[in-house]
Amino acid sequence: MTSARRRTVRVVRGGPVLVEGPVDIELPDGTRVESDRFMVAICACGRSKNYPLCDTSHRRRRRRTS
Ligand code: FES
Repeated sequence: MTSARRRTVRVVRGGPVLVEGPVDIELPDGTRVESDRFMVAICACGRSKNYPLCDTSHRRRRRRTS
C-alpha cells in the first residue's frame, strides 16, 4: 500500500535526486533496490559504482583521454 502523503523530491544540479526514504527503487530490468535511509540520493549521472544509489562519483572530474 502506498502512502498518500505528498513528498518533496529535490533534484541536485549535476548530482543526484534526493528522495525522502525509506524507498523501494525499481530499475528498468525489474530489479528492486531498498533503502531505509531518511534521505536517499538516487544517482542521476550514471557514474555511481553503487547504482542506483549515488556514491558521489558525480563530483569527480572526468579525465581527458586525448
Ligand atoms: S549522481 Fe552521484 S554518483 Fe551519480
